[in-house]
Amino acid sequence: MQIDLRSDTFTVATSAMRKAMAEADVGDDVWGEDPTVERLQQVVAQQLDKEAALFLPSGTMANQVALLTHCQRGEQVLGGWGSHVNRYEGGAAAALAGVQFCELGQSGFFSAQQLASALPIDDIHFAPCSLVWFESTHNKGGGRIFEPAAMSEVAAFAHQAGLRCHLDGARLYNAAVALNCPIKALASPADSLSICLSKGLGAPAGSLLAGSSDFIVRARRWRKRLGGAMRQVGHLAAAGLYALEHHVKRLAEDHENARLLAERLAEGARVEIQVSNVETNMVLFEHDRPTQLIERCAAEGVRLTPFGARAIRATTHFGVDREQCKRAARIINKVA
Ligand SMILES: Cc1ncc(COP(=O)(O)O)c(C=O)c1O
Repeated sequence: MQIDLRSDTFTVATSAMRKAMAEADVGDDVWGEDPTVERLQQVVAQQLDKEAALFLPSGTMANQVALLTHCQRGEQVLGGWGSHVNRYEGGAAAALAGVQFCELGQSGFFSAQQLASALPIDDIHFAPCSLVWFESTHNKGGGRIFEPAAMSEVAAFAHQAGLRCHLDGARLYNAAVALNCPIKALASPADSLSICLSKGLGAPAGSLLAGSSDFIVRARRWRKRLGGAMRQVGHLAAAGLYALEHHVKRLAEDHENARLLAERLAEGARVEIQVSNVETNMVLFEHDRPTQLIERCAAEGVRLTPFGARAIRATTHFGVDREQCKRAARIINKVA
């Protein structure tokens, strides 16, 4: 059997989740009449301590709706190096929202000072900035967490400068579990944020965007414009509710498995790896010949993701247990 470490998006719905989906009470959500969607939106808004939340088909659409709701065309958005919204959403920030994204720093994280020095002055040569973009955990950065106190400091500076802050929290539940803190504490610096149900939480689809009631009213219109308003989508919302109830605490297992995998790779000393960078469910390591390594590992039943010139990513999730992680480490070490 394959050990698929390409992404936590490869998780498939469990039979209990499928049962919850089949039994969901549904209605027309475009008309705001799907009780299960309404419940999911309330639960998430409450967990994130925001006034309202909106169910969307994907994390990409949640990010794009956030940009479209916060920004005007021609503005710039300042965010961390390697931000998913800038690198991996098909150029949508430019194509749809018409914003230009400026990456700060080299780690995915940045300080108030870095933000201050990138802020444009009010001059017709420069694209005005109205939005600061955080991502935590950081995908390109290998699942690392934007240190909460550091994010609060940046957000406080941004707010003082009259900017708004959005947090791409596709894997924010991973961060909350890893830090053993309520997710609302991580959400609080942001005016708006998105979370994904279809990654480590294991639902087949769905993201939520949360923020003030006014923001969500405006976001709802953008969701409709993008074709993301769906009908009896309570079946999917039911998967999300099930995931929030049953799959959050267990993310800790994915984090332990990622750590184990990283330790075994470090012991093997065949790849370059910094074990202390493994904070959640992703393991980044480097090798001189990543393409060959990935191909050979795949032939031996371990699937990995290329992640840059030398980098390779392995992501743990509930479809891969501890024994499989040990086996994956043995195979990667052998092939490397
Ligand atoms: C940080 C981050 N944001 C957004 C997304 C987009 O989510 P989706 O694949 O649901 O569009 C991803 C997907 O991996 C992600 O890692």
